[in-house]
Amino acid sequence: MASNATTDPSEGTSHLSVTAALISIFKQWDMQALLISGGEQRIGFAINGSEFEKPENNPAITCDCTYHKNTTCHITKLRVHALNKRGVFPKEFEALRYLAALKLDLNYFTGPLPAFIGNMSALTVLSIAHNSFSRPIPKELGNLKELTMLSFGSNNFSETLPPELGNFVNLGLFNMDSCGLGGEIPSTFAKLINMKILFRKR
Ligand SMILES: *[C@@H]1O[C@H](CO)[C@@H](O)[C@H](O)[C@H]1NC(C)=O
Ligand SMILES: *[C@@H]1O[C@H](CO)[C@@H](O)[C@H](O)[C@H]1NC(C)=O
Ligand SMILES: *[C@@H]1O[C@H](CO)[C@@H](O)[C@H](O)[C@H]1NC(C)=O
Ligand SMILES: *[C@@H]1O[C@H](CO)[C@@H](O)[C@H](O)[C@H]1NC(C)=O
Ligand SMILES: *[C@@H]1O[C@H](CO)[C@@H](O)[C@H](O)[C@H]1NC(C)=O
Repeated sequence: MASNATTDPSEGTSHLSVTAALISIFKQWDMQALLISGGEQRIGFAINGSEFEKPENNPAITCDCTYHKNTTCHITKLRVHALNKRGVFPKEFEALRYLAALKLDLNYFTGPLPAFIGNMSALTVLSIAHNSFSRPIPKELGNLKELTMLSFGSNNFSETLPPELGNFVNLGLFNMDSCGLGGEIPSTFAKLINMKILFRKR
């Protein structure tokens, strides 16, 4: 990230600064948020886009620091992969309005996928497979029109897939392998012309 850029304290609907939101999320998941010196708004573990995909960078966070003439960063990607993490999907995620990729696969996260996820409108990649998220998948997930990749296989979701998920016209990869859902695939899914379903038995 640009050395003097800071995260935008005004980001989010909750008036919670982005940094505070991230620190709070990490605390709930028993993870250390490393702050570099120079003030509360600096995040020391941010890495650039090319570094995000490297498996050894885990957890990985990417910021886009080009806002306001390179002085403001927004968190755009977060990955917490296979780190034996426990906890729920924190409400603080709603403050990260620029988050485009969220990958939480292979942990022990529990509780519901909250309805406010439908307000995380920048998301293009949502990958939460191999956790213990439960309860019905919220219909608000269907509001995420920019999603190109959705993976929630091997969870503990109940009931059927909400028909609202048929809104995902951009979806290219949809993995719901043994996600705990019963019933038929809703007919609205016929709209998903770009979709490749990875659908295996439990
Ligand atoms: C960062 O801030 C310091 C202190 O305000 C300043 O000396 C330095 O030139 C700045 N660096 C950049 C890359 O703007
Ligand atoms: C990302 O970080 C790596 C390693 O620090 C560096 O080699 C690369 O130039 C950086 N890329 C960008 C786009 O800043
Ligand atoms: C922001 O940083 C990029 C890359 O360092 C640079 O090309 C661009 O000119 C900068 N923009 C402003 C407004 O400073
Ligand atoms: C989504 O955002 C809207 C507008 O800010 C708000 O009214 C609504 O309560 C939010 N939805 C959820 C489920 O939090
Ligand atoms: C799975 O969901 C059921 C019913 O919603 C709940 O009773 C159970 O505790 C959940 N199991 C796990 C491992 O979260």
